[in-house]
Amino acid sequence: MNNTLTITDNRTEKEYVIPIENDTVRAVDLRRIKVNDDDFGLMSYDPAYDNTAACKSKITFVDGNKGILRHRGYPIEQLAEKSSFLEVAYLLIYGELPGKEEHDYWNTRVMRHTFVHQAFTRIIEAFHYDAHPMGILISCIAAMSTFHADAKSIDDPAEREKQIFRILGKLPTLAAFAYRHAIGRPYNYPDSSRGYTENFLYMLDDMNERGYTVHPVSARALDILFILMSDHEQNCSASTMRAVGSSRVDPYSALAAATCALYGPLHGGANEAVVRMLEKIGSVSNVPAYIEQVKQGKMRLMGFGHRIYRHYDPRATIIKKTAYEVFEALGTNSLLDIALELERIALQDDYFLERNLYPNVDFYSGIILQSLGFPTAMFPVLFAIPRAAGWLAQWLEHIEDKEQRIARPRQIYLGEGARDYVPVPERADYRKWLESYAPSAG
Ligand code: CMC
Repeated sequence: MNNTLTITDNRTEKEYVIPIENDTVRAVDLRRIKVNDDDFGLMSYDPAYDNTAACKSKITFVDGNKGILRHRGYPIEQLAEKSSFLEVAYLLIYGELPGKEEHDYWNTRVMRHTFVHQAFTRIIEAFHYDAHPMGILISCIAAMSTFHADAKSIDDPAEREKQIFRILGKLPTLAAFAYRHAIGRPYNYPDSSRGYTENFLYMLDDMNERGYTVHPVSARALDILFILMSDHEQNCSASTMRAVGSSRVDPYSALAAATCALYGPLHGGANEAVVRMLEKIGSVSNVPAYIEQVKQGKMRLMGFGHRIYRHYDPRATIIKKTAYEVFEALGTNSLLDIALELERIALQDDYFLERNLYPNVDFYSGIILQSLGFPTAMFPVLFAIPRAAGWLAQWLEHIEDKEQRIARPRQIYLGEGARDYVPVPERADYRKWLESYAPSAG
């Protein structure tokens, strides 16, 4: 097969042969296509990166048409059923599942880094009682760079690894402290004898009850959610992590930026938005009217649709199953019936079918998190903790990739041409404003 693309520029009738590699052409090859020597050359325009690969990656594979998601080749269904979040984090970061020794070492290192500097309690206490926990988490992650100056040595693999242990270890602690601050309760310090999600639930929950235990169904359900949320290739926040990391800043600063990107309601804030939407709908009988409003473009059906998945998001299928396990152990959630009715109606409505809008990972995750007892504002935080593993894997791959340089997209400039500066009194708008202002100024 001839792996090239022949382009004829009808402006000049010149022909160009461009190599195709991995079913992709290099955008920079288009620059050879010029009208004359002064011409900058052709660019590709791709707002929102619909059809632009910004990196080569070996971490996560998604086939949106077939509903396939694999990390390092392992299907998400198998990982969710058989693995644990920390093991998946290892897989994402190192590329292989750990052996017994590596697994023990990894667990010990991450859990040993769960303690945070006492100064973080004072940082968190500076926030108002009703501060959104995502804002607190973002601030704490950014602040972490000031505690670990060694993090700037991003070319040293041992230093990079140390920051990874710290980030994965400390994020649950900071998130739990932010929550305890909001509800006015003393902080619970990490207990590294517990598992990752069990320790997190303990820090959130324990009130010095005698014989306190974390419900195993809760710990396992949260672990599954963490696995499902751990990475999703080049989404908005992962691309932010790569773009900010490409400036060679420390990983805490890049991770704070990625967490900001995740916060938006179209991304990781969607699980919070889904629950708020279900609460607003209020009852199954109000569902048809709500769907009508969505179809009229008045609002979006949160938890539906995905840029990549054009069919069911495979994570949503696993989450729905996990939701029933949680409801069986901890009692059902009143929002479930509204969610099921929304899904039932949407999946037979032409508006949603024609646009390939199916439930995504966030549609049922919010309901599970609510059943596990989390307040709604904590949901995006619960997305950020596991996604940090994916961001770190993406960051490592990016800074080690010799083809990458600082991220710097081009633009199509459509503004004014060159013009001369005019002093304020001589500007037309200023004179117009003066004339209109003068009469009433009296
Ligand atoms: N409800 C109603 N209409 C929708 C929805 C929705 N949830 N999503 C897309 N559409 C419509 C949209 O109005 C447009 O219609 P038209 O062609 O008539 O203008 C068409 O579908 C294509 O929409 P788009 O905005 O071009 O699609 P996109 O690929 O840019 O957006 C999305 C993807 C996830 C931002 C979007 O589907 C959305 O806003 N969903 C709701 C928010 C949500 O659940 N986000 C979580 C995503 S999964 C987790 C994560 O990535 O963090």
